[in-house]
Amino acid sequence: MTQDELKTLVGQAALQYVQPGSIIGVGTGSTVNKFIDALASMRGSIAGAVSSSVASTQRLQALGIKVFEAAEVDELAVYIDGADEIDHAGCMIKGGGAALTREKIVAAQSRQFVCIADDSKLVETLGHFPVPVEVIPMATRRITRQFGALGGLAVVRMKDGMPLVTDNGQHIVDVTGLKIADPPGFESEVNQWPGVVTVGVFAFQKAQVCLLGGPGGVKTMRF
Ligand code: 5RP
Repeated sequence: MTQDELKTLVGQAALQYVQPGSIIGVGTGSTVNKFIDALASMRGSIAGAVSSSVASTQRLQALGIKVFEAAEVDELAVYIDGADEIDHAGCMIKGGGAALTREKIVAAQSRQFVCIADDSKLVETLGHFPVPVEVIPMATRRITRQFGALGGLAVVRMKDGMPLVTDNGQHIVDVTGLKIADPPGFESEVNQWPGVVTVGVFAFQKAQVCLLGGPGGVKTMRF
């Protein structure tokens, strides 16, 4: 099976976590796009969704699914999203699609995080994938130096020759060269640096379930 087929498989498998009548949290990315496409078959039986990005909002609305603001609703039963890496404890690196801040907010509002991913995303230790960090632009230079002191290399993410601007009007630095042996410790430390909006390590908003697509089909991991 191709990676695209595996994404379709886990996107469809995630439907079993969607309770009829509920409002669900929806993430961002190519795997979640497969989930959104599958969700169209349930559009008449769910109340709607809270979305983590402008891109997912547009896709949901185009399929006739009502999108609520996060601030309009209380707790969500489930949040379904992809990951750039996930470890055996359910901790993740996220933000490859630059939506990490809203993803973390919607995840925090949800009782259960169901991660959907193909098996290339499962790792022993987080850090092979560059860690995205959303930053307030005036702090970028200092934050880059702080990552340097940790042994990492932080590079501002670019788009069309300019720093990428997130849905929140901020920039992203991608940090390579880190081995994140202690995800909660790393997340706690970087969260305290002035100018950091969100660090793309999800240890406090980790997954409770991962639907992992591989050659043998979908494997369910629980954490
Ligand atoms: C977006 C994300 C995505 O979940 C992550 O990048 C995985 O994306 P994909 O499903 O396209 O591989 O965190 O900010």
